[in-house]
Amino acid sequence: MTDKRVAVELKAVTKTFGEVVAVDNVGFRVSEGEFICLVGPSGCGKTTTLRLIAGFEYPTAGEIRIHGKDMARVAPHRRNVAMVFQSYALFPHMSVFENVAFGLRERGIDRKAISRKVPQYLEMVQLGGYQERKPGQLSGGQQQRVALARALVVEPALLLMDEPLGSLDRKLRDEMQLEVKTLLDELGITTISVTHDQDEALVMSDRIAVMKDGHIEQVGPPRDIYEYPESVFCATFLGISNLLTGSLTRRDPGRMILTTKEGLELSCSLPESPEGQITLIIRPERILVNPSHSRENTFRGRIESVKYLGSEVEYYVLLLSGTRVVARQQISDAQDTLCRAGQEIDIQLPMQSLRLVS
Ligand SMILES: Nc1ncnc2c1ncn2[C@@H]1O[C@H](COP(=O)(O)OP(=O)(O)OP(=O)(O)O)[C@@H](O)[C@H]1O
Ligand SMILES: [Mg+2]
Repeated sequence: MTDKRVAVELKAVTKTFGEVVAVDNVGFRVSEGEFICLVGPSGCGKTTTLRLIAGFEYPTAGEIRIHGKDMARVAPHRRNVAMVFQSYALFPHMSVFENVAFGLRERGIDRKAISRKVPQYLEMVQLGGYQERKPGQLSGGQQQRVALARALVVEPALLLMDEPLGSLDRKLRDEMQLEVKTLLDELGITTISVTHDQDEALVMSDRIAVMKDGHIEQVGPPRDIYEYPESVFCATFLGISNLLTGSLTRRDPGRMILTTKEGLELSCSLPESPEGQITLIIRPERILVNPSHSRENTFRGRIESVKYLGSEVEYYVLLLSGTRVVARQQISDAQDTLCRAGQEIDIQLPMQSLRLVS
């Protein structure tokens, strides 16, 4: 019996183009109504994975199932899958109404149903009054919403989006992220989305799949990936991580000492006691700047540069040992005085915030 709640399943899917292994033994499941984001550097196989699910490419090996059904012999237009591309790919000569109606006409839906459904979906993406405009008379964000309405109006079982907000400016992108996520949650549509933008992945996803060189490094809820990255790659791909590499020089239970290459001695408490070289990470916002009670893992350093981010500030600090770390601090009050480059400060790397990665 197949689990009804699994909307999409990839089993050991590989796709090669000649010598290039674009997708390498990828397996994951997406639940009904779930929003999953594929993230990873350029060329890691994100678009190819989407195209395989949509049926524009066929796997070299492995199996793709949608609602339990093997898609090996199912043509793209029979998969009940809609795709939104990075470039909105609207038809420039057609009105907004006609653009959205296109997929319905192709499916032979009757005129009456079309004139009922198109306005309904345009309303949903907040473009109620724009039916007669041409794409060229819309802003980027509005065009993107038309593209979304066009994908949703056919009521797909699965929505695939390839960098849907990639061409929008920061502010519009932030707004659209929440709008689109809310809409898809309301409609309960299963979505697989691709993005370069780590904030977008963190904000929109129920789960994130981090890809590298065609394979999946880690899959999990945004917070798990951020707080407990399993590899250095994941730790550095989503957000900034300070990496501290060295080996354990004391191994008392509950308290170990990691001595880094530069000679920094860090107390840590790890679930295991690995041999050889290991890497610990700590996120910038976990580092305490000039802690009022300096306890263990407190080090003196000099600020090399300061990055002011409005509500936060990042200090790039060179410790006496020669180790470089980034600390991020919330600016809680306009009166807060910020530290300056050149200044000496104490920073603390709290033991419970040091995580072991492989
Ligand atoms: N039709 C093709 N023929 C040959 N190689 C291809 C083809 N399509 C993709 N590739 C190669 O497969 C790999 C994965 O490509 P893909 O487009 O999936 O990457 P991506 O993760 O979407 O990258 P980006 O973030 O730049 O869009 C790349 O090395 C790419 O050059
Ligand atoms: Mg791509």
